[in-house]
Amino acid sequence: MIPLLLTLLLPLGAHSAPAPQATFKPSPGNFPAKGDGDYAGGIFSIPISQLPQYAGPGGTGPEAPTTPGQKTSGSGPYPSQMLTDSSLPGHTIFAPKTPPTGNLSLPFIAWGNGACTLNSATYQNLLVEVASYGYVIAADGTPGSTSATQSKVQDMRDSIEWAIAGKAAKYGNVDTSKITTAGHSCGGQEALSTAYHDERVKRIVMFNIAIFQDDRRYLLQEIKVPIVWLIGGSKDMGYTPSGKDYNLFTQPKIRANLDTGHGGTFSATNGGKQGKAFVNYLEWTWRGNQSAKAVLLDPQSPNSLVKDKWVVEQSGWN
Ligand SMILES: *[C@@H]1O[C@H](CO)[C@@H](O)[C@H](O)[C@H]1NC(C)=O
Ligand SMILES: *[C@@H]1O[C@H](CO)[C@@H](O)[C@H](O)[C@H]1NC(C)=O
Repeated sequence: MIPLLLTLLLPLGAHSAPAPQATFKPSPGNFPAKGDGDYAGGIFSIPISQLPQYAGPGGTGPEAPTTPGQKTSGSGPYPSQMLTDSSLPGHTIFAPKTPPTGNLSLPFIAWGNGACTLNSATYQNLLVEVASYGYVIAADGTPGSTSATQSKVQDMRDSIEWAIAGKAAKYGNVDTSKITTAGHSCGGQEALSTAYHDERVKRIVMFNIAIFQDDRRYLLQEIKVPIVWLIGGSKDMGYTPSGKDYNLFTQPKIRANLDTGHGGTFSATNGGKQGKAFVNYLEWTWRGNQSAKAVLLDPQSPNSLVKDKWVVEQSGWN
């Protein structure tokens, strides 16, 4: 399990990077204009050299996938694929293979990878699954990249600006009033950092991660849109900090834990139980599907997350 964790967290060669010179000094009332911060992943992330003090016990729980899942076109109505697009260099697109007909509008998602690596293919199963429900996703990096460079807030912002410029139109009727930032581990911190003081971002989904540094948590008051944390239980380095973030955050929120450890269920077919949770949240929040809402919020509903062994905390929803 250690090798998996290291693969997720430590890009090749990251140990040799010089120690960052921090320019942002957290203190209550100090709100930087933008969330770019001083390191990969932005203001809510950490320099990778500090990871040992936050990594926690590690390990995997019984809900972690034990074998790699199948590659599919997703379980939704619009069979989807992973591809690169020269109009957005250094990124990967996940979208329906054929633009949906009629006037279905496609919400847009900007995605960041674990360890802020530039290898988007790690999340292919999850992101193809989401796209197949009628979403266009731009992820940081390219499929199979082995670059030691880590992604930054600007990479995710580039994705958002690409979509707003209309360059995603070839994939369908993309609705840039419905933008979500999301990501795993460092990529989730980057999603939060990108959303900070950027009103174009309307939803944030954090996979297996939260804010590590207690002295930066006050910045959460500048986040005015809902946050969902999908966390891997007590072995996940995101577990303790997501509890602190959840308690402090005052907007609509969900914190759900499934006993996987930090690696989640990304590698399972269609992204496993995290894929199901993410799709239902998106279908509820962007398309108003009330059955999908019940999957997250009503433990008694037929397909609820609770019946899938998630422990769900939530508040602030109408
Ligand atoms: C397009 O979508 C709107 C709602 O978003 C709907 O009212 C309208 O009937 C749709 N038009 C077509 C041609 O499907
Ligand atoms: C709404 O969500 C439920 C639960 O995931 C799903 O079974 C159903 O097909 C969805 N309905 C539509 C119209 O997408």
